[in-house]
Amino acid sequence: MPPLQVPIAVLASGRGSNLQALMDALHEGGPGRIVLVVTDRPDAPALDRARSAGIAAHHVAADGRVADALLALFEAHEIGLVVLAGYLKRVPAAVVAALRGRILNVHPALLPSFGGPGMYGRRVHEAVLASGARLSGATVHVVDEQYDHGPIVAQWPVPVKRGDTPESLAARILEIEHILLPAVVVACCRRLSAGTMAPPSLAPAGDAFVLADTPPTDLSHALLPD
Ligand code: GRF
Repeated sequence: MPPLQVPIAVLASGRGSNLQALMDALHEGGPGRIVLVVTDRPDAPALDRARSAGIAAHHVAADGRVADALLALFEAHEIGLVVLAGYLKRVPAAVVAALRGRILNVHPALLPSFGGPGMYGRRVHEAVLASGARLSGATVHVVDEQYDHGPIVAQWPVPVKRGDTPESLAARILEIEHILLPAVVVACCRRLSAGTMAPPSLAPAGDAFVLADTPPTDLSHALLPD
């Protein structure tokens, strides 16, 4: 019998605003619960966010032992779903294999464009602006052995505006990430706790899927499981 609340591990590298959005969205009694936060940097603010919420938080250096260390932590915490929320390292193949289909990543662009090795942080938005693209956005996808590559679960487009800088575009997309990622994680946890392994593919519904200047505040009615 699968657990009613899916134990979630969040991996992060930096400030952890997506971690915070997940913590805020996964209330007591929800379909999932963050029980573990791991960062590859000892000074990542995400560690403090987790600890102040009473969540087990560990620094695991991305060295040759990272796969064993992550797998041991995931086993100890009976992890059912892993979320990469601004985690900049590649997930080792052994970890991907052990949790195949149950590792999600959020990327601040519309994959498969503007992703892959070296495409993180400011560089993503610089590349979007340099390309002349009029649309960017947020993508949540299943993690496989390659950077930013696995099947896409959900996307939300965000307009590129005249005069945008990498910072202004990043900020506009981050607002969407904070809505989209929790929506996907909740949907995945519902599936997992119902015994379905495959992550949902969330599709836009009705007129909620618009190029809004102001992000929609409630995605729960806008995204329909496939
Ligand atoms: C986010 O834009 C995420 O998509 C990217 O890195 C950023 C992390 O931000 N991979 P935060 O640490 O969640 O605040």
